[in-house]
Amino acid sequence: MKYHNVIAMDGPAASGKSTIGRMLADKLNYLFLDTGCMYRAVTLAVLENGVDVADETAVTQLAIQLDLDIQPANEEEDGRHYSVFINGQDVTWDIRRPDVDATVSQISSYLAVRQEMVRRQREFGQRGNVVMVGRDIGTVVMPDAPLKLYITASAEERARRRWLDREKQGHADGFAETLTDVERRDQIDSNRKHSPLRPAADAIIIDTTNRSPETIIAEILQLAIESSVSS
Ligand code: DC
Repeated sequence: MKYHNVIAMDGPAASGKSTIGRMLADKLNYLFLDTGCMYRAVTLAVLENGVDVADETAVTQLAIQLDLDIQPANEEEDGRHYSVFINGQDVTWDIRRPDVDATVSQISSYLAVRQEMVRRQREFGQRGNVVMVGRDIGTVVMPDAPLKLYITASAEERARRRWLDREKQGHADGFAETLTDVERRDQIDSNRKHSPLRPAADAIIIDTTNRSPETIIAEILQLAIESSVSS
């Protein structure tokens, strides 16, 4: 299937892809979808409903039935990039809880959960004019996207960013624990059986270590023009 004006952005945890993706979408006046929040929403629903995390069938059932809605948000509100609703209830910050962080890799390793999320993501992609961010957008969700980017940064830099974010949200982990968690998630995301994290063969790799979002956006806008995503 061909997707028009879609930018696929993948990369490891805290690589800066969400911040950059959101800024890029704003510049281009595109829709923005951070697919990680979908796996997080399923995970939150699993935890809140007392579903056994190890029960793949029950988790899948819940994922298929989940009433999940993602809406653009006014950034001034409370620093959010978008709003996430489950059954009409705002869970934008709940999906960032440490217990969700600790469980989401397992939930997102389930094939049927992934298939359901990918189905929803492709539906979203068909609207066109979309920046979609995740782990498998260029490889699985939209392999025909005209521009695929793989955003990365050193583990230390990513842990530093995650640690600062979590401090702002009032979750006070130490830096060493954050680094260990980032490395643990890289390990799981890159080695899982279904749709492991890796750049698409034709993805352009962008290392954000020690670079400002503005210079990266400028580089990507140029790439978008060259790949005729945007003129
Ligand atoms: O980007 P994030 O940290 O919010 O992602 C949360 C989890 O979801 C992470 O463990 C990887 C997983 N994920 C995935 O498997 N596929 C995606 N397209 C997006 C996220």
